[in-house]
Amino acid sequence: MMTSSIANRLLLLLAAAVALTTLMAPPVSAWRRPVRVTVYVQEYLGNGPQTTEKLLVRGPGPANPSLWPPNNLFGDTLVMDDLVTESPDNTSAPIGRVYGTYMVSSMSRPVLVVSFTLLLTTGPYNGSTIVMGGIDDSSAVLEHAVIGGTGAFRGAQGHVVGKVVKAYSPTHVVMELDVHASVPVLWTQAKEAPASSLIIDH
Ligand SMILES: *[C@@H]1O[C@H](CO)[C@@H](O)[C@H](O)[C@H]1NC(C)=O
Ligand SMILES: *[C@@H]1O[C@H](CO)[C@@H](O)[C@H](O)[C@H]1NC(C)=O
Repeated sequence: MMTSSIANRLLLLLAAAVALTTLMAPPVSAWRRPVRVTVYVQEYLGNGPQTTEKLLVRGPGPANPSLWPPNNLFGDTLVMDDLVTESPDNTSAPIGRVYGTYMVSSMSRPVLVVSFTLLLTTGPYNGSTIVMGGIDDSSAVLEHAVIGGTGAFRGAQGHVVGKVVKAYSPTHVVMELDVHASVPVLWTQAKEAPASSLIIDH
């Protein structure tokens, strides 16, 4: 009798604690705020001293003749550490880096699997990242998924459109990345105003 009444009281306490925890949990809203980021990636290719995309792993093959520049093997993997600028001009303000990898993922077609993270290094978004990935099939306009983010871009979802907008030379091209994403809005943040010309909130 005694034990059962103690057990009942404990159960009641537990129920109260659960109810209280639920009430006190930070409110998570279903609202999402659109975020648009347009940046320019300076890609230095080839074997020069400025090269920022280098062969990491020579794949096992077979040779995939559909890709340019030639001499590609299935599984070849490149690692990149590219400068990101505010405009296509490589002397414009540096605003971040793109880190990631490309891998020849088809044995015959011009398909690379790409995985990359944009790190912003200026202004209120300094240190925030957008994580992206997908397939590069050598199309003039590429679309990749925005998989997530950190800092100001926590919980980011969306897509990114990439296209080459400038070619200084065959070994120096500039890729525009146009990120169309959204991030969850917490009630506590709902009234915060966007604070950068780089990020266009709608
Ligand atoms: C800008 O690009 C040109 C052409 O690739 C190169 O010669 C020059 O060194 C680059 N400037 C900077 C500041 O990186
Ligand atoms: C960005 O953040 C890093 C690390 O906190 C800091 O060293 C750097 O000065 C910051 N840059 C700008 C432009 O705010």
